Amino acid sequence: MVVQRDFSGEDKQRDGLEYLKKYTAAHAERFGVPPLCMVHSFGCQQNVSDGERLLGALAEAGFEPTDDYKIAQLLIFNTCAVRENAEDKVRGVVGDLKKFKEQHPDVILGICGCMAQEKKSAERLLSTYGQIDLIFGTFANGELYAMLAELLKNRGRILNIEEKPTDPDAPFTQLRKSSYSAFLPIMYGCNNFCTYCIVPYVRGRERSRSPESVEAEVRQLVADGYKEIMLLGQNVNSYSYGFPELLRRLNGIEGDFRIRFMSSHPKDASRELIDTIIGCEKVCKHLHLALQSGSDRILKAMNRRYTHEDFWKIVEYARSKRPDFSFSTDIIVGFPGETYEEFCETKEFVKKVKFDNIYSFVYSPRSGTKAAELDDPVSEKQKGLWLRELLLENREVASEWMKRFVGRTCRVLVDGAGKEQETLTGHNDENIIVNFSGDESLIGKFCDVRITDSMNWAVKGELVL
Ligand code: SAM
Ligand code: SF4
Ligand code: F3S
Repeated sequence: MVVQRDFSGEDKQRDGLEYLKKYTAAHAERFGVPPLCMVHSFGCQQNVSDGERLLGALAEAGFEPTDDYKIAQLLIFNTCAVRENAEDKVRGVVGDLKKFKEQHPDVILGICGCMAQEKKSAERLLSTYGQIDLIFGTFANGELYAMLAELLKNRGRILNIEEKPTDPDAPFTQLRKSSYSAFLPIMYGCNNFCTYCIVPYVRGRERSRSPESVEAEVRQLVADGYKEIMLLGQNVNSYSYGFPELLRRLNGIEGDFRIRFMSSHPKDASRELIDTIIGCEKVCKHLHLALQSGSDRILKAMNRRYTHEDFWKIVEYARSKRPDFSFSTDIIVGFPGETYEEFCETKEFVKKVKFDNIYSFVYSPRSGTKAAELDDPVSEKQKGLWLRELLLENREVASEWMKRFVGRTCRVLVDGAGKEQETLTGHNDENIIVNFSGDESLIGKFCDVRITDSMNWAVKGELVL
């Protein structure tokens, strides 16, 4: 039986939480350990952050997190729908769990996130995979307690994917994986409706958190020892209370930490934003600005609302103030109807801008979006070859541009062990990967590294003691 009840309302969450606390306490008493839960997030940082909130909520109810699905009583897969291959991954994982679920019928298997929010995908998941107990969309994350309590009491299956108003300032707890780098959403949803993109359909309209609540969270994170705060939004430039103001406000918080953010939409990237980045010492000198295409005809068909010349003006302004200003970008190759000549316009423009990092994707049709209805005569294979051409042809420009760091000393936040023995890897203020020799005790700390060599998308250096 599939339950499609309304699980919203504070009282339902309160009752649900009380029930779950009793359930986890009884489990702990009987087995000597609390029940374990696993939340696995696919997709972007926003989704990872949502996953951390779900884990936080579960921990509050008495569950203990694990990364090993084989020992968990509750499995939640927090999905992404941005491209077909992201959805394929989820179907693969859920398919693989069929046997496991048959052997462990008491384990609860839940699917949430963007793919779950998309009605057709959710219904298909539910009808194809009998092993799924619970499907809830991005608007129902705050209803987790009520849904789980219902499942534990009455079993059955739950589908909860209605779009509904949510309060961006609603309180939450979050269990972050990293103890030094934190994702912090400042807004949710998107109003832009780029014609290829599913995000506005699965995340709803833009909702901004108040600057007070963002500031309070940053202060707490800094007090807890966090060194890097990554502000998140699909387009932070349309933050309702003014994004440059927010950056200046957060820059004023005392402590040894740095501020990153993503993403910025080029149509709203202002001179004020560039001036603020350059003027605030805690804000990283890097802008992720998704170009998508260098062809004005394709940009128009994508509903991006800027031309390549508008984009260039932002780059020119930033580099007039700081010649080595770092940009990274997203590129879609093979938008419906794109010709080879139009693709070449992208290729040439990418070389002109000199990006430090390019995230490039072959266009993937998303049902329900406008672009999915357009004629698309170029084959997937051909698009794959264009993508390779873009990256290969840009390689020389990128590695030449990376050389600007050689001889400089950069402040690096150490992310973890490098590939070779006794090496470390981290990111500098420009978001460039820096590899160097050092002790693992430096992980999660800032250190100064003198850059000695550069590669295509990373640099090597020596620790300055
Ligand atoms: N809001 C961000 C922005 O506009 O910069 C982008 C967020 S989206 C999750 C990340 C990237 O996925 C996009 O910039 C775009 O390059 C890519 N993307 C989105 N829809 C796609 C599709 N249908 N096919 C291929 N790539 C897509
Ligand atoms: Fe998608 Fe465009 Fe919104 Fe980014 S700005 S999430 S690409 S619709
Ligand atoms: Fe992110 Fe994927 Fe959703 S990129 S917003 S998790 S569709």
